[in-house]
Amino acid sequence: MEKLIITGGTPLKGEVVISGAKNAAVAIIPATLLINGVCRIDNLPNISDVKLYCNILENMGAKIEWINEHEITIDTRKIDPHKVPLEDTRKFRASYYLLGALLGRCKFAEVSSPGGCNIGSRPIDLHIKSFEALGANVEVANGKITATAKKLKGTNIYMDVVSVGATINAMLAAVLAEGTTIIDNAAKEPHIVDVANFLNTMGADIRGAGTDMIKVNGVKELRGNSTYSVVPDQIEAGTFMIAAIASKGDIQIKNCITKHLESIIAKIEEVGGNVDANGDHLRVWYTKKTHRANIKTLPYPGFPTDLQPQMGVLLSISEGTSIINEGIWESRFQYTQELNKMGAQITANGKQAVFEGVKKLTGAPVTATDLRAGAALIIAGCIASGRTEIYNLNHIDRGYENIEEKFRKLGAKIQRVDEEE
Ligand code: EPZ
Repeated sequence: MEKLIITGGTPLKGEVVISGAKNAAVAIIPATLLINGVCRIDNLPNISDVKLYCNILENMGAKIEWINEHEITIDTRKIDPHKVPLEDTRKFRASYYLLGALLGRCKFAEVSSPGGCNIGSRPIDLHIKSFEALGANVEVANGKITATAKKLKGTNIYMDVVSVGATINAMLAAVLAEGTTIIDNAAKEPHIVDVANFLNTMGADIRGAGTDMIKVNGVKELRGNSTYSVVPDQIEAGTFMIAAIASKGDIQIKNCITKHLESIIAKIEEVGGNVDANGDHLRVWYTKKTHRANIKTLPYPGFPTDLQPQMGVLLSISEGTSIINEGIWESRFQYTQELNKMGAQITANGKQAVFEGVKKLTGAPVTATDLRAGAALIIAGCIASGRTEIYNLNHIDRGYENIEEKFRKLGAKIQRVDEEE
């Protein structure tokens, strides 16, 4: 096992290039199973969840060729839905997209009940409801989910809760169904639009992605024969924006879509940071001590829950008392215990946390409790005085490409070593 060692206190300055979006990539890769052909995907993030998904598809008979660490061709003409390696599907949550894709293509799908970050109960009732509405029979037993259908027929699906995963899974299952499917109260995240754009590039007919009503006109077959580039990662970009201000630095963020960052830009300016947004890049810089703000995490275009821990670090050293209300997950404040070890004064209770701004944080050994908490602790280590050690890096490596490299290039004194060192 490895750990990160960070000596804090250096303002982060320079340029960072944002990678492809994890939450788009982990949906687009299984979506290729709907294609009876070959396609090419570039701008994939070089992260363990992407590698894991490629291994799963190869186990099922897909032929994957790595052009470089960010680009693959994938041939899904011959796939066997009975060859899903169930152990692997338990390792992350996004494995549930195999259900929608394989149900759509093969009318049979079976995965383990999904794993993923422990930030709440993470039900999948809306995924199952969508599949059943399309005519599938879904069984949840022995730690597995099995979906079968004689045929899939377009229908109207209303999402009781705005759900990224259920919206994408309903799209995947509807693409090859007979007739038209309407997904109402759909999630609008950038990665949902990216999956719809990918599928349309490969021959699907999906309209309205990015709004709360998505219309899928079923087609006979997806032929592929095209290349698709994954959208830049909104959450990685937001992570570095927050790091720029928390470290009193000045960072140019390249290869992002500033339109996707409006809620983060607004919050950073509210606390006293500076942002100059310009199409596919932006500059974020510190000029004065930040002050308190309140945050409520909401579905897009609201403030994203996946930037809540990172923002918590910034609020823990901002003047005054700040409150974060976590609107999506019921247990996404575990990171605050780790920050309190570093001198923060945070009181978390259920879906709300109160941050009493302190003058500074001090380095300490801390543990990443989930992917975004890990990113938050890296920011905390960069701004704390002294040495911080971060354990449980496997969480961080699932969703951030070469994260210590990117921070080191910005001036951070950070290194990855064996835990025993
Ligand atoms: C996706 O999770 C992301 N993961 C999460 O990012 C992100 O936090 C979340 O969307 C919200 O933006 C991936 O894309 C792989 P949801 P997902 O379904 O799809 C409830 C990260 O750090 N719900 O939008 O699992 C659920 O309990 C990860 O990258 C149901 O009630 O989230 C939650 O309260 C962490 N029934 C709300 O909806 C369902 O069937 C939103 O969940 C499904 C969800």
